[in-house]
Amino acid sequence: MTRFTIQPIHTDFAAEVFDIDLSKKQSSADINLVKEAFWKYAVLVFPDQKLSLDQHVEFTTLFGPIEMNVNTYQEEVKKHRFDYRVSDISNLDEEDNILAENSRKRMSGLANRLWHTDSIFRHKPALASALYALTVVPIGGKTEFTDTRAAWDALPDITKNKIDKLIVEHSIFHSRAKIGFTNFTEKEKAALPPSRQVLVRNIPESHRKALYIASHAMRIIGMSDHEGVALLGELMAHATQPQFIYSHRWRVGDLVIWDNRCTMHRGTDYDEKRFKRDMRRATVSDIGNTVELAS
Ligand code: OGA
Ligand code: MN
Repeated sequence: MTRFTIQPIHTDFAAEVFDIDLSKKQSSADINLVKEAFWKYAVLVFPDQKLSLDQHVEFTTLFGPIEMNVNTYQEEVKKHRFDYRVSDISNLDEEDNILAENSRKRMSGLANRLWHTDSIFRHKPALASALYALTVVPIGGKTEFTDTRAAWDALPDITKNKIDKLIVEHSIFHSRAKIGFTNFTEKEKAALPPSRQVLVRNIPESHRKALYIASHAMRIIGMSDHEGVALLGELMAHATQPQFIYSHRWRVGDLVIWDNRCTMHRGTDYDEKRFKRDMRRATVSDIGNTVELAS
């Protein structure tokens, strides 16, 4: 029997789902209702969850296969706080102490403050991400989400026609460089070569189109670097206007799942030397590379 309620935050973007216990196995009818809401709202907030790592992963798997966590700063981390099924989104080291100023893991966390969508820089990007809050900070440390379907809808037709079939090259090292994080080894660089993704995605479940961009975007194929950078900057500015944004203030036990195909997100500032912020993220792989899928 379905008893949970879905409370939209915007008409068709971001909703809160109450009275559902994600640690339990859901009926297939309930799973379908949650999925329908997910395709419609693109960001779902499930407050008050008590999830073991296994339960977190199990729920996330309802949306597809888990993307294994391979970090670019892998070689620095001696001991992972969680296993490879999730990403450690915290400002903590393996002994749960706040990360040192010069920690590469800390730099990697800082890069999450730039608007992005997860794993767009991989050949096969991420379909969804489910972030679970274990320890939250009293001030700041929100996560902002933007609806890139609404952003697409609001573009003038002339721009839509111009950009509809474009392909973008992305690299994680491009976004890292923007915050001064550049000391990657050749081995690390070789492990994550640039990816190519379509600039505009069709989302089959909602029959909507979405801008597919991120601060990892380096250049537009077939355009001069200057022209490509200018267009990407313009689209990024357009897509991150306040009317498209939901800003999530975390409470312990929140699980937030988002559709990486049609949203961007970013972390926001907090006193990371003083407060511990501890989250873990399970990530769902997309079905393939977006350029290959489109052709
Ligand atoms: C992520 C991410 C932002 C944040 O988990 O993918 O970008 O606020 N997080 O922690
Ligand atoms: Mn992210």
